Amino acid sequence: MKRTRRLRGTKNMRSLVRETYLHPSDFVYPIFVIEGENIKNPVDSMPGIYQYSLDRIDEELDRIWNSGVRGVLIFGIPAHKDEVGSSAYDPRGIVQEGIRYIKMCYPEMLVIADICLCEYTSHGHCGLIHEEEILNDETLPLLSKMAVTCAQAGADIIAPSDMMDGRVKAIREALDEAGLLQTPIMAYSAKYASAYYGPFRDAAESAPAFGDRKSYQMDPANGEEAIVEVEADIEEGADIVMVKPALAYLDVLKNISDRVHIPVAAYNVSGEYSMVKAATLNGWIDEKRVVMENLTAMKRAGAKILITYHALDAVKWMKEEN
Ligand code: PBG
Ligand code: ZN
Repeated sequence: MKRTRRLRGTKNMRSLVRETYLHPSDFVYPIFVIEGENIKNPVDSMPGIYQYSLDRIDEELDRIWNSGVRGVLIFGIPAHKDEVGSSAYDPRGIVQEGIRYIKMCYPEMLVIADICLCEYTSHGHCGLIHEEEILNDETLPLLSKMAVTCAQAGADIIAPSDMMDGRVKAIREALDEAGLLQTPIMAYSAKYASAYYGPFRDAAESAPAFGDRKSYQMDPANGEEAIVEVEADIEEGADIVMVKPALAYLDVLKNISDRVHIPVAAYNVSGEYSMVKAATLNGWIDEKRVVMENLTAMKRAGAKILITYHALDAVKWMKEEN
């Protein structure tokens, strides 16, 4: 008989043969900065997540730093939205000021800037529009400007999430031209048109005013196409590629991480977080065990970098287990 149970008898025996470990340096925590004063708005659909104005964000930054997490993904919510998303690439815009502020408080914190127009456009789409069409090439210079202003504000990594074709190349060229040769790009490469982004759109106030994002984000039915997207982004200059969402796309994550030789990130998105929180608040699941199981699954599937709203809890729970 094959006795596989031999290696499961004790905690130390299980640790000895354990294949996958989470480490605090794997984690990136998303944060939302909002223009205005004295704001700490809870996001109703994401218990524990808040929008902060910069004069209130100190407590959150201290909490992140003290947890041991060293990466944040920053999203801005501007006071002014227009057709062309001009607040996205204003050097004094909310996200640029947020980046500056975080780097001033914690110079060693890795600040990753999400590059997209949807939080800044009045129509909520990730690109410029003409009538109801989402324009591709016309959007690229604006994304490039946003990337350069964010990098100049101190962002350590530029993360385009818009899913326009050719954006990685356009952004790489713009960064290089601005002398930002050392700023890496983490591309949201396999980003699916997912219902799991629902709670995020409350948090970032970025729901599209008409239609949906299916003409630019990927069809959830397609796995092979993820390879095309990832290869294109690497070819265009991506330093890190991402699969998003994570849990419903572990096959894609595994497939990509087996094929590429650069770091792969998984984005454990808002809806995935909210489902766990809702079940937890109902007393239906053991939050800690479910979260650690989910995050371990992402890492087992090949993600090196885990972007998750659970990051601070996960790192705290990891310490308890020691
Ligand atoms: C912006 C962006 C979105 C997310 C990250 N960047 C929303 C979207 O594409 O609609 C989703 C993150 C989450 O759900 O946690 N394009
Ligand atoms: Zn967007």
